[in-house]
Amino acid sequence: MTIIVTGADGYVGWPVLLRLAETFHDERIVGVDNFARRRWVEEIGCVSANPILSPAERRKKVEDLGKVSFVEGDLISKEFVNMLVRVYQPDVIIHLAAQPSAPYSQISWEKAVYTQYNNNVSTLNLLWALKENKMLDAHFIAATTTGVYGAPEYPIPEGFIEVEYKGGKDIVPHPHMAGSFYHMSKCNDINNMYLAHKQWGLPVSDVRVAIVTGATTEEAKGDMATRFDFDFYFGVVTHRFCAQALIGYPITVYGKGLQGKPFVTLEDCVKSFVELAKKKDVDGYDVYNQTLGAVKIVELAEIIREAAEEEIGLEVEIKHVPNPRVEKEEHEMVIENDNFIKLVGKPMDLKEAIGDIFRTIEDRKKIIESYKDRFLPRGLEK
Ligand SMILES: NC(=O)c1ccc[n+]([C@@H]2O[C@H](COP(=O)([O-])OP(=O)(O)OC[C@H]3O[C@@H](n4cnc5c(N)ncnc54)[C@H](O)[C@@H]3O)[C@@H](O)[C@H]2O)c1
Repeated sequence: MTIIVTGADGYVGWPVLLRLAETFHDERIVGVDNFARRRWVEEIGCVSANPILSPAERRKKVEDLGKVSFVEGDLISKEFVNMLVRVYQPDVIIHLAAQPSAPYSQISWEKAVYTQYNNNVSTLNLLWALKENKMLDAHFIAATTTGVYGAPEYPIPEGFIEVEYKGGKDIVPHPHMAGSFYHMSKCNDINNMYLAHKQWGLPVSDVRVAIVTGATTEEAKGDMATRFDFDFYFGVVTHRFCAQALIGYPITVYGKGLQGKPFVTLEDCVKSFVELAKKKDVDGYDVYNQTLGAVKIVELAEIIREAAEEEIGLEVEIKHVPNPRVEKEEHEMVIENDNFIKLVGKPMDLKEAIGDIFRTIEDRKKIIESYKDRFLPRGLEK
């Protein structure tokens, strides 16, 4: 069996690649990346809090594990993707490659177009390469996002919703109500993957990834660490708050902070992709809300304030700042996740992941301190 992981140099992709290598011994595992994430973070003037190996060093490390290949290539090249699929004949593709930042996609027309072109053409190239190479029984596992649902005032289902209208009734994909050009790129991906499933029978697992939180996994730590970003554009809210707390900077809650947001720990995120790769006889379009549930931003700030005190004895202030995002600031998010729970069992607690973050970045104060001007927007949007 062959498993291709796209985005294998990324925050999630690297630990997924390492866990696959640990889990599957007779299978070939192929990691693919164009290292764009490294360039984007450099472009917005920041760095990963913890050092990560260079592409060449990572390649050597994984190739030493045996039966793991690390290929550099850009998924927007149809030629490259066709070659990849023809050469490696994947049974499973775990598609994680994307420009994943909402604020980055909102900077300008160029960034919005780049994000959608990069993300959507990459996915289309993979889908069409499977079709053109007659490999439509491969299991296509893709990272989309819980952000595609928007913030409706009812419990968010796992992908599909029953609709009754004028006496008729049907189960249809949940409407896409995303709040950024990045999130819309994932809605477009979902439409195209759903079409590929309906028209060609491609088995798809559509994993709606929540806000991934965590600094390490069993395999991705020490010199094998995954990246940890804390800037306005690429640092997720949990990571930004932890970095702020660590250097005694106030935790900056956008607006009222009464909006619920869905979270998942890095460990459960990685585990669910690997569990999906093990699954046999997948033939549907299955959706997984990859989340342990929603937490309000003010509650998250409080959890992080307490963890900073418990883990490293720091007293931290919580400060509300004007919201740079257009979003509901009060929203009771209820999100169903039965399919995801069946896959991973009891999810790891968010507090556990936050404790691990503090222990991991504790000695990175100096680097975070010197990039603290990146916590808030730089005015690139003007
Ligand atoms: N981290 C989160 O909180 C989160 C939340 C929701 C969804 N997701 C989704 O999960 C996936 C992984 O996210 P992540 O946080 O690891 O992001 P990441 O940026 O760290 O990883 C994505 C990787 O894809 C690579 N890539 C991008 N475009 C490429 C291309 N055209 N060709 C080859 N490689 C390319 C990048 O270089 C990067 O290494 C993404 O699809 C993202 O949208 C992540």
